[in-house]
Amino acid sequence: MIDDECGRQLPALTVFSLSIRYMKEDLEKTCENQVVGLKPDDIHWVLTVPAIWNDSAKQFMRMAAEQAGISTDKLSVALEPEAASLYCRHLPVMCDGESSLLTFQTGKKYLVLDAGGGTIDITVHEVCAGGNLKEIHRASGGDWGGTKIDGSFMNFLGHIAGNTAMQRFKDENMEDFIELLRDFEIKKRNIDSVSKTKVTIKVPSSLFDLVQEKLHSSGYENQVNLTGTGNKVRLDADLMRSFFTTTLTQIITHTSDLLEKPDCVGVEAILMVGGFSESKLLQEIVKMMFSQLKIIVPPEAGLAVLKGAVIYGHCPTAITERISKYTYGVATSVKFNEKIHPSSKRLVLDDGSIICEDVFDIIVKEGDRLVVGVAHKERSYKPIDESQKTIEFPVFISRDRNANFVTDLGCKHVGTLAIPLAGRGTDRSVTVRMLFGGTEIIVECVEQATSRIRRLKIDFLT
Ligand SMILES: Nc1ncnc2c1ncn2[C@@H]1O[C@H](COP(=O)(O)OP(=O)(O)OP(=O)(O)O)[C@@H](O)[C@H]1O
Ligand SMILES: [Mg+2]
Repeated sequence: MIDDECGRQLPALTVFSLSIRYMKEDLEKTCENQVVGLKPDDIHWVLTVPAIWNDSAKQFMRMAAEQAGISTDKLSVALEPEAASLYCRHLPVMCDGESSLLTFQTGKKYLVLDAGGGTIDITVHEVCAGGNLKEIHRASGGDWGGTKIDGSFMNFLGHIAGNTAMQRFKDENMEDFIELLRDFEIKKRNIDSVSKTKVTIKVPSSLFDLVQEKLHSSGYENQVNLTGTGNKVRLDADLMRSFFTTTLTQIITHTSDLLEKPDCVGVEAILMVGGFSESKLLQEIVKMMFSQLKIIVPPEAGLAVLKGAVIYGHCPTAITERISKYTYGVATSVKFNEKIHPSSKRLVLDDGSIICEDVFDIIVKEGDRLVVGVAHKERSYKPIDESQKTIEFPVFISRDRNANFVTDLGCKHVGTLAIPLAGRGTDRSVTVRMLFGGTEIIVECVEQATSRIRRLKIDFLT
């Protein structure tokens, strides 16, 4: 469930799928007038998601797209910083003259900072031979996007006018509230780190009267002026900049921590993409804090993800390697060995055999290199029961590279892999290969009796 501005709830799936449907239909309408004879099947859709999203969030987006009328075989999921990186690699000269070309030579490493409205998404890429890209440090970031600044501004108004009054203003004057946000958005885009000019924002009269009444005792009386004609609030440039402080600090702190990591040694440039990267304030602070690096902001930084997603759709293999965000594995049991297994995990089965349960059978470890198209661990399994219709594996993740048991602290059950079995008997062996390198995990199962290959997905939502 997600809340609207007024706290009313709707299922997220409905909101997401209607948003996707709106854009899908809008594109189809546009194409109708421009491309003769275009059939729905001619379109392959690419849905972009932040690289820091987990598997269940990606599956959720796929579900939303399907509900919006996009068939699953006509849909790819692209990771946003990757798309942006691909876009910039295709336009090196446009980015910043000849010198940017050097950034994209084989062996060069750079950090992609995708600063959007909701999330800051950071990945580190290396250019491989042939111009493909590989991720060399797992994606990281947080919810420190551009809308946090709007939030600080609203908190500031709430501080003056009172939070209850602010909520009432929203509830009763939604259009005015949106108008206020719109005006703030324009002013937010113009602020830089040196300007002394006061920032004027038009505040709807219902709120202005409250601000006027309470400003003198708010603690902001020296930084804010009011002009009664036209209900304008004039803010000191420093006050306007203060709305950015927390967000900028979080971005800078996180980026510096990341650049200290051993994998990131040799990073020469920061590629700034996403709408928030167009902010002069963000650009200036990044340039100042990382003066030893080359800072590249492509033209239309806010569209880099979108345009890169189109390139990705045409050439998904342009990203050749990724880094595992987690340690992934399945829960299993093994023969009990008293030298290594704790007695708490000992279990005697009906047939008298002694097993150790809850073992975290690791498939890939956090930080492992995942090559696209290469399977990690191939294993064969047999059903225990003659009439069994599926073999089910609970899938677990952990941040610990050496997790032992699925009950360890930090291990989390995230999904289920269900392998369907045909026929009867306990001799129906299946071989399972898991491919982790793509933007979504793929499982291939081979029925040994028939050599039939099936492609499955892990269910991360139930
Ligand atoms: N010149 C600018 N100065 C400051 N902020 C800006 C500027 N241009 C755009 N923004 C901010 O960038 C954000 C939108 O960026 P973008 O379109 O990349 O987000 P998104 O991709 O939709 O969100 P996310 O990546 O979080 O899912 C908004 O918060 C907007 O206010
Ligand atoms: Mg984005």
